[in-house]
Amino acid sequence: MKIHLVTAFPQLFRGPLDESIVRKAREKKIVDIYIYDLRDFTTDKHRQVDDYPYGGGPGMLLKPEPFFRAVDKIRETSQDSNIEILLTSPQGRLFNQRMAKELSLKDEFVILCGHYKGVDDRVRENLATDEVSIGDYVLTGGELAALVVLDAVVRLVPGVIGDINSALSDSFEDGMLDCGYYTRPETYREMKVPEVLLSGNHAEIEKWRYQEALRRTREKRQDLYEKLEN
Ligand code: 6GU
Repeated sequence: MKIHLVTAFPQLFRGPLDESIVRKAREKKIVDIYIYDLRDFTTDKHRQVDDYPYGGGPGMLLKPEPFFRAVDKIRETSQDSNIEILLTSPQGRLFNQRMAKELSLKDEFVILCGHYKGVDDRVRENLATDEVSIGDYVLTGGELAALVVLDAVVRLVPGVIGDINSALSDSFEDGMLDCGYYTRPETYREMKVPEVLLSGNHAEIEKWRYQEALRRTREKRQDLYEKLEN
């Protein structure tokens, strides 16, 4: 899989892509991540990526040309003539596990990182194929949102997580929250691991886990609970 990130703040991607699962996915060459600095796609002397909004008002907007030019460059080498181009924005479709799974099946996609005041709307209308938000709050920039999307997608790409069953038992996978898990020690400061987990009875363990998942969903996420077919 190839993931292309277009951003005015490439440094924000330095740490997070070099740790844990995403790092391993890159090392195993299952996922290649390419970062495009918007400044490299400006044409003026000052390499300006933002400008004042027509009609006035506070704040600056990201200019359209660097986005279009960066995508031109990506398209030059892309195998996919209908490449998916996501724009991060608080006005976007709310990102969820289903969208992560759909993206994990693609060979290639682009994330254009927006800015809290916005991006020239021609980018949304004429360049992006979809607009995504990660929640109902405002981030200063789309970079953290892009990292959230990327992380959620990469771990679902076949081969990235060793044991596929690990991903299949995730929260949301079946519309429920996940149950709790315990590791050693068996007793810590008088807090005990649930007995059934030590029983070796796998049918009982599975049953307990399912009931726990159901209970948590009912207690913490009534919205999800009501959607379950009981
Ligand atoms: Cl995708 N971008 C920004 N700037 N803020 C957000 C967001 C995205 N999702 C939630 N808040």
